[in-house]
Amino acid sequence: MNATLSALHVAGKFIVLDGIDGCGKSTQLHMLQTILEQLGAAILCVREPGGTAIGEHIRELLLSSKGEGLNMRAEMLLYMASRAQLVGEKIRPALAAGHTVLSDRYVSSTLAYQGSAGGLPIDNIMHVAQAAIDGTWPDLTIILDLPLEKAMTRLQSPGKSAKKKQPPQPGLFQDRIEQRQQNYHELVRQGFLQQAKNYPDHYKVVSAIGTPDAVFQRVQAAVCEYFTAA
Ligand code: TMP
Repeated sequence: MNATLSALHVAGKFIVLDGIDGCGKSTQLHMLQTILEQLGAAILCVREPGGTAIGEHIRELLLSSKGEGLNMRAEMLLYMASRAQLVGEKIRPALAAGHTVLSDRYVSSTLAYQGSAGGLPIDNIMHVAQAAIDGTWPDLTIILDLPLEKAMTRLQSPGKSAKKKQPPQPGLFQDRIEQRQQNYHELVRQGFLQQAKNYPDHYKVVSAIGTPDAVFQRVQAAVCEYFTAA
């Protein structure tokens, strides 16, 4: 980590890592957690959907076959319900205590998956988000950007099949959301990139091409640049 970044720079700050399925954000989040803890930061690491007992129930409904038949609007509201619980139970208390919060996905995912790709109006989602998170917006959202073909290759690698429980099938993502057509995931990717264009003060796009270590160099640089800038 850049010598100029200290735990103080990230105390009470909220950082989100997001991107298409297979972009490697969970790996990067854990690497970031490790290095910030080495700097002395107190970290809360959460994932969405889920991160609380209630949120994990909602996650199962959303991602398994139990969620078949959910329409896009109901799906969006469930992601927000999980998020509202997570913010109230964990994120806001941690930020108030001066901890650094790292989240695997957040509102940015709903804007990309249910908005840009799912067809729900972005302003509808933003209104619901305001109600769900009550002003708890991230300081920095890092979008890990990866071409779809590379993401699919990663999801089909042997190391991933344990998480996904099913044997990989060529050309297909695995859970209920991942199983949507490739065109849907391309729109998700474009949606993330559009958000970064719309909110340049709070988003950074990092290429997720390369080894985890190579990508992490870029993630670290993005975090340092953002939090040490005057
Ligand atoms: P994960 O695989 O990163 O844990 O995410 C679960 C899936 O849920 C993933 O396919 C993305 C999707 N998702 C949405 O569609 N909308 C959301 O708001 C969130 C947080 C996730």
